[in-house]
Amino acid sequence: MEYFQIPKTNLKASRLALGCMRIADKSFQQVEELVQTALDNGINFFDHADIYGGGQSEAIFGEVLKAHPDYRQKMIIQTKCGIVPGKRYDFSKEHILQSVNASLQRLNTNYVDILLLHRPDALCDPKEVAEAFDQLYHEGKVKYFGVSNHTPLQIELLQKYTQHPIIINQLQLSIVHSVMIDSGLNMNMKKAWAQDKDGGVLDYCRLHDITIQPWSVVQASWEEGCFIDHPQYAKLNKVMDDLAHEYHVTKSAIAIAWLLRHPACMQPIMGTTSPVHLKEMVEACDIQLTRQQWYDLYLASDKPLP
Ligand SMILES: NC(=O)c1ccc[n+]([C@@H]2O[C@H](COP(=O)([O-])OP(=O)(O)OC[C@H]3O[C@@H](n4cnc5c(N)ncnc54)[C@H](OP(=O)(O)O)[C@@H]3O)[C@@H](O)[C@H]2O)c1
Repeated sequence: MEYFQIPKTNLKASRLALGCMRIADKSFQQVEELVQTALDNGINFFDHADIYGGGQSEAIFGEVLKAHPDYRQKMIIQTKCGIVPGKRYDFSKEHILQSVNASLQRLNTNYVDILLLHRPDALCDPKEVAEAFDQLYHEGKVKYFGVSNHTPLQIELLQKYTQHPIIINQLQLSIVHSVMIDSGLNMNMKKAWAQDKDGGVLDYCRLHDITIQPWSVVQASWEEGCFIDHPQYAKLNKVMDDLAHEYHVTKSAIAIAWLLRHPACMQPIMGTTSPVHLKEMVEACDIQLTRQQWYDLYLASDKPLP
């Protein structure tokens, strides 16, 4: 496993992180094995959210922490708040504080290393968010702060009011869903691919040393599901398969290697619940795709280049 210092922090994190969105319906033994496999393979970063499984993902993870008190100190735990299912978004101070307190209780820990605002709230008052961040920081409940699915200007606005650096922006990114890369490659062209849909978030994060955490790394979309072995993505699967044979890894490792090959030093969040898949994906750290292979994968997902 490769490690990196998350900029503006004293956190030394594994390049790959385990996302815990899908563990809610797993048994204690299954989650225990998954967490143990992650740690055994050098993964020290775990991503949560208050809403995953309606709180059950944090709760079952918390049970594993309770059974293994030595695990906590080996881990960087990140959680998120701000989405209220069925009602939508709430970045009020009251909601942020209440959400973090509930997460800490479920996770069986007295602090999280990083708190992210999950998805932009149109009614966000950045002064209020800053107050919540200050309180959580001074109470020792959160060490660092970040966002998810935020545009550069939304980050700038927040950063104007909070003294805590925004260190993370968690964003959807995979070979198939590569919106933040597409617009830069097609700049000033008439076709739709040139449309800048996110305010240049990729370059902004790189300029400001904000770590991008790609999410849904092997998903085409919520509707289509995983693109590995998906008939709709036969061309891409053929290229992934050839590279998998060449490097003696699986196609899922190739999908992760594509993200790691980008020089932005991104930290992909893997959502697998399978220890076998997890170990396969970790092998991505042992290979480096060539420039041409990176572009071959990009083009195989049917995206045009000028
Ligand atoms: N910030 C946000 O808005 C946001 C949104 C969504 C997710 N996230 C975070 O990102 C993490 C990852 O998201 P995700 O779960 O959608 O990502 P993912 O890693 O792209 O998808 C994981 C899913 O793909 C399946 N899969 C099928 N074949 C696979 C293979 N060969 N290798 C690996 N997985 C395979 C997995 O099944 P198995 O379990 O059987 O392997 C699992 O159901 C989440 O856990 C969460 O922490 C954040």
